[in-house]
Amino acid sequence: MKVAVIGTGNVGGGLADLWERAGHELTRIGRDGGDVSTADAVLLAIPGGAVSEALERVHGIEGKTVIDATNLIGVSAPDGWASNAEFVKSKTGGPTAKCFNVNFAAIYDRIAAASTRPSSVWCGDEEAREVVEKLNSDAGYEPIYAGGLENAALQESFLGILFAISQGGMGPFFYRIAPPEGF
Ligand SMILES: NC(=O)c1ccc[n+]([C@@H]2O[C@H](COP(=O)([O-])OP(=O)(O)OC[C@H]3O[C@@H](n4cnc5c(N)ncnc54)[C@H](OP(=O)(O)O)[C@@H]3O)[C@@H](O)[C@H]2O)c1
Repeated sequence: MKVAVIGTGNVGGGLADLWERAGHELTRIGRDGGDVSTADAVLLAIPGGAVSEALERVHGIEGKTVIDATNLIGVSAPDGWASNAEFVKSKTGGPTAKCFNVNFAAIYDRIAAASTRPSSVWCGDEEAREVVEKLNSDAGYEPIYAGGLENAALQESFLGILFAISQGGMGPFFYRIAPPEGF
């Protein structure tokens, strides 16, 4: 599959590496934007408050299958939208999914060594299912479907529980990940 990642940091860069190793063809797009017109799937992995600005610098995203991995940390979804993912769909018009936003990038390198495949929750459009499930599977995750894109706000807010579990020293990570500033 041809996959474009918008955002080349922990999430965008990390997943791009995993997918490249699985045989996918990656285009990595940074802050300056670029062209995704040949991509079969586009991952959005930038700060949650930068989505509108970033999409303006990306060409050829209309109608594409987009996976939104962003979180809202210290910011809200754009006015009139319950979630970033629904806002993204309003801009791109293609199959859209929320995924990878509740899996910590710091432990991507431990996925392959896990005794059972770690789960990765996604919600979104049925038309995105094949791409989302393939990219989860090829990153080493077991995809868990959580309904349509109308559930994206729930999935975005779930991050708060993950940080609470992590701060409590419990849960699957066994070490504490401090919540980012503004959370
Ligand atoms: N870190 C995690 O464990 C994790 C897990 C799940 C979801 N998330 C979410 O995924 C997103 C990315 O997180 P991350 O940890 O990968 O962040 P990161 O390492 O800071 O990378 C962010 C990327 O977005 C780019 N960027 C920043 N501002 C931008 C703008 N205005 N327009 C376009 N691109 C911009 C950055 O470009 P430069 O390199 O030029 O600054 C960088 O490539 C965030 O929404 C985060 O909440 C994070």
